[in-house]
Order: sequence, then C-alpha cells, then structure tokens
Amino acid sequence: MKSSKWVPDLAQFPGTRYQALANAIESGIKSAQLKPDERLPTHRFLADALGVTVGTVTRGYAEAESRGLVYAVVGRGTFVRPLGTAPSAPAEGLIHGLRIDEPSSDVIDLSLNLPVTADKAADLAQAMGNLAQHPAEMNRLLCYQPEVGMAQHRRSLADWFSRSDWEINPDDTIIVQGAQHGILVTLMALTRPGDILLTEGLTYPGLTAITQQMKLETKGLPMDAEGIVPEALEAACQKYSPRLLYCIPVLQNPTTVVMSPARRAQVIDICKKYQVMILEDDIYAQLLSQAPAPMASMAPEAVIYVSSVSKTLSPGLRVGLVVAPPLWRDRIAAAVRASCWMTSPISVALVCEWIHSGLAATQLQQQRDEMYRRHTLAREILGDASYDACIPGFHIWLKLPETWRAGEFVREAAQRKILLKAAGVFAVGHFDAPHAVRIALSGASDMPSLQTALETLRTMLDDGPSLALSVV
Ligand SMILES: Cc1ncc(COP(=O)(O)O)c(C=O)c1O
Repeated sequence: MKSSKWVPDLAQFPGTRYQALANAIESGIKSAQLKPDERLPTHRFLADALGVTVGTVTRGYAEAESRGLVYAVVGRGTFVRPLGTAPSAPAEGLIHGLRIDEPSSDVIDLSLNLPVTADKAADLAQAMGNLAQHPAEMNRLLCYQPEVGMAQHRRSLADWFSRSDWEINPDDTIIVQGAQHGILVTLMALTRPGDILLTEGLTYPGLTAITQQMKLETKGLPMDAEGIVPEALEAACQKYSPRLLYCIPVLQNPTTVVMSPARRAQVIDICKKYQVMILEDDIYAQLLSQAPAPMASMAPEAVIYVSSVSKTLSPGLRVGLVVAPPLWRDRIAAAVRASCWMTSPISVALVCEWIHSGLAATQLQQQRDEMYRRHTLAREILGDASYDACIPGFHIWLKLPETWRAGEFVREAAQRKILLKAAGVFAVGHFDAPHAVRIALSGASDMPSLQTALETLRTMLDDGPSLALSVV
C-alpha cells in the first residue's frame, strides 16, 4: 500500500505543532477523511508539506499512537488504527507499541535477551542419537513421571547448577519448564490474590505478566549500584506487609547490576526480620565465571531459587530448576502438577545428555567468548556514551543524553530497523522509568549487523532526535 498524501491544515487545531498534528489525525479519522489501515504520509513528505521538522512529525505520530489512533509497523510506516481495536499490551513482537508483523531480514533485533544464535543441530542430533541407543529408557521418557522430575535428571541438573560455593541437594529440586514456569509455580504455591510482592523498580516484564494474571500487587523498590536499597526495602516491608521479594541479583534485567555480597546479606536480614520469603531469579548467573554466592546458599530456609538453561544453552528446550526449602517443596510440586503435570522428560533428557557429554559446558563457554567479542565492539563504537554493562552479559543499559526521551529513541531506532526496549517496558507500576534503553548485544545475528546497529545508534546519540531523522 502506498503512503497517502494527506496534508492537514495545522492552524485549525489547538496545541503545539506536534499536538496539533495528533489532533488533526483524530479529526481526520472521525470525519472519515482517513480510512482504517490507511498508511499515513512518510515523515519526510509531511514535514516538507507542513514546513516543520521531521522530528515534529515523529512526535505528532508518537502522540497519535499513544492515544490509540495509529499503529506503527517496523519498516512499513504508520497506519490508521481501525476504530474499536484497542492497542494490546506490550508482548514479544510488540515493541513499545510498534507492531512487528512479519520478521524482516533487514531488521536487527536487539530487543530480546536471548543467547547468541548458533548452529546446534549437530549437538542436538548427537544427544538424540545417544538416547536412541537405549530403547527401554526412551520408552520410559514417554511415560508420566513424578511432577518434580525423574531422580537421575534432578541429580544431573542439581550438579549443573551447583557452584564451587553452593552444592545443590537433588532432593531440594523441582524441574520446571524454564524460569518463567518456575516463577509461576512458586507464586502459585506461596501467594493468594491480593498479596503484595516487592521487586526491583525496573524488572523482567515476564514477572508482571504473571502477577497480573494472578491478581497480585507489585511494588517497585529503588536500586543503586549494589542492588535493592536496604532502607527502601525495610520501609516497604513495614508499610505493605509483603508476602515475597522477587529479585534478579546477577545481571539484573534490565539494569545489569550485580548485587554485592554485603547487600545480599542486608536484604536477607531485612526479609527474615519481616518474614518475607525471597524468590531469587538467578537465570544469568552462569554466564559469569565467578558470580557472588547465591542468596539461596546464604539462607536456604528463606529463599526459593530459580534458574534455567534458556540463557546458557537453549530457550527452546524449556528446562529450568527450582530449589526450595522442604516447607515449600511439596506445594511447588503441586503447582507443577496443576499447571502442566510435569516438564517433558524428553526435553530434560536431552539437556542431561548435553551436560554429561560436555557439550553443555562447551556451548556455555562459546556464549561467553562471543559476548566478550560483542562487548569489545560495543565499547569501541559507543566509546564515551554513558552505559552500564556486566561482561559477558547479553545486554547493556544505555542512559540517554538530555536530547532524547527513551520512547522516542526506540521509535526512531525502529524506523532505522533496529529494535530495542525502552526503560518504561520494565517499570513496575508507577515506578519512575529513567531515560534509558536496553540493548541486547546478543540479539544481532552476527558481528557485522551488530556493528551496523551500534554505529546507527551512535549517530543518533551524537545528532539528537530531528537531525538524526533528517538524514534517513
Ligand atoms: C530475569 C529473567 N527471568 C526469567 C526469564 C525467563 O526465562 P525462561 O526462558 O527460562 O523461562 C527471563 C527471560 O528473558 C529473564 O530475563
């Protein structure tokens, strides 16, 4: 579909020029001058026709989008939203209000925190081949198994997630379908609708997806360079009598903070004092060769620990582990039974094959090596830009200069076919989101496309909003 040549008379509408443009779009839709799904003029065309900057048109379209009047499709333009089709909540594929309808090969997606893509077909074939040599065992994997997982699988996974400073007892484990499922079943076991949950003020949006479904209330806590601010945690415990604290102490998503050992001890002390259980989401810890001792090792009776193989091996296998104190283990197991009966034993068996053959360790090291290379490239290109990183984590946290708002930066990057996530996506409730964006360095398919993306972002940082757009 071609872009329309619609040019409104801005003088007829109230507000600054970008507000007038949004008002004109609203009026054009009401008067049927603009038809459902019609493509609005390109930014450059409309800017020239109206005698305004491209940045003003961008802001006007963004304002119209936030009013639910239009939607943007990456690489295709801005379209009139048919009346009565409310914008849906942000989800994967819907990046800060931008709909990604068809994966486009020239889009560089740095919006998702996933492992670097690698060809693992041979590794998978090898694991399947090993399994195939034991027909009796294969038949067993096709049957129902205990909801916590098969004993030998729990031993292998306990071993894989143990560290030099923490040995996991297989009896304390429950195998789950990834960390997301681990969080869900823990909350099913520990909370009731209306309970209050504390968390970092900016956090993994998958948590919010669960708390909304379960009608739990979340309160976001401020963080500093060491993690959750203890005074704020204590004040929130006094004020809200929360049920649980959810936190990501290693490579916090999105801020990259690693909670210091001293801060962990403070957080545990406060939670114990107010009888608040801790849900420790440690999904990124294995990326670091030397992460601080998990909170679960410091206070096993007060912490439920969740991790998975999604960030180190493969998200498609859907295998994770919960480590819980005896008091909660049976209830979490019951929640697994209620939600899916059990994690697919075949998937778990494949992961265990990778662990036993050494392929898992090799894949993990390859992830780390690749991420070191990508961080070096980011440092070279972004140079003195202000960003936080914890090498070899997947993402960096770019703090924008005053010329940029996070939402606009993400939109403009999307117009240049680079997908990112703005801080607001991670904000818990009304927690104040800073002007920052999360850039997943692991998302690019290779180094040249990462270089292209980072150089484009560098130009945008240097030029500021309208100048950067005018060179498109
Ligand atoms: C902090 C955090 N926890 C949990 C998950 C979900 O992981 P899984 O694929 O194991 O369900 C993610 C995924 O991005 C995450 O960032």
